Amino acid sequence: MIIECSQYTADQLYFILIQLVLPRPIAWVLSDNGNGTYNLAPFSFFNAITSNPPILMISVGWKNDETKKDTWVNISERSHFVVHIPAGAQVHEVSNSSTVLPHGASEIDRFGITVENLEGWSLPKVRGAGIAFLCEKYAIHEIGADPQALILGKINCIWIDEEAVSRPNNRIVIDPVKIDPLARLGGNHYALLGEVLTVKRPDKPEGG
Ligand SMILES: Cc1cc2nc3c(=O)[nH]c(=O)nc-3n(C[C@H](O)[C@H](O)[C@H](O)COP(=O)(O)O)c2cc1C
Repeated sequence: MIIECSQYTADQLYFILIQLVLPRPIAWVLSDNGNGTYNLAPFSFFNAITSNPPILMISVGWKNDETKKDTWVNISERSHFVVHIPAGAQVHEVSNSSTVLPHGASEIDRFGITVENLEGWSLPKVRGAGIAFLCEKYAIHEIGADPQALILGKINCIWIDEEAVSRPNNRIVIDPVKIDPLARLGGNHYALLGEVLTVKRPDKPEGG
């Protein structure tokens, strides 16, 4: 099959694209509602894009009522946010947290999701996710006709479940099986890690 993109509407292309870029990591984003509660929502148009400085990107769109999604508003107004890599066991909480609530209402409170405080962090993290990035707004670029917000967050601090960390030869090595990351496919489908393949590169046998 060949898909000539100009022949399809934006909605059709969205539906096609989310089935083709596979699997996608999920940024489970906690942001500050500014009223003492926290917003939580998943975004799978997400990746790490630079390491100097360390920057993550999430792409955030609009609610059906044509207002900006709460994550976009919160990060615009209050800068700091936490990106989690959700665990496979959290798939239902991830899905629940994508529910559209009025601005200022908390998915964490609505769905009974547990958060915990970390020393020195201005925002809490979701319990059960093996990785959490404390980020600070770096830039927001509006892209496309609708437009979509490309939110760039500079990572200030990273929390990693100690169970998944080892330190051979002073390197930080993370066991992805212990992290058990949840990934998104198209529609309502998700994926788990599956088999890990190890292939040494001729020029970098130690990896990297
Ligand atoms: C797994 C998953 C991934 C999603 N990825 C995105 C995404 O990349 N961009 C986006 O705008 N919405 C995405 N959504 C939809 C948002 O999570 C949803 O619109 C949510 O209500 C936004 O919440 P907020 O208004 O509290 O920010 C995704 C939903 C799910 C379940």
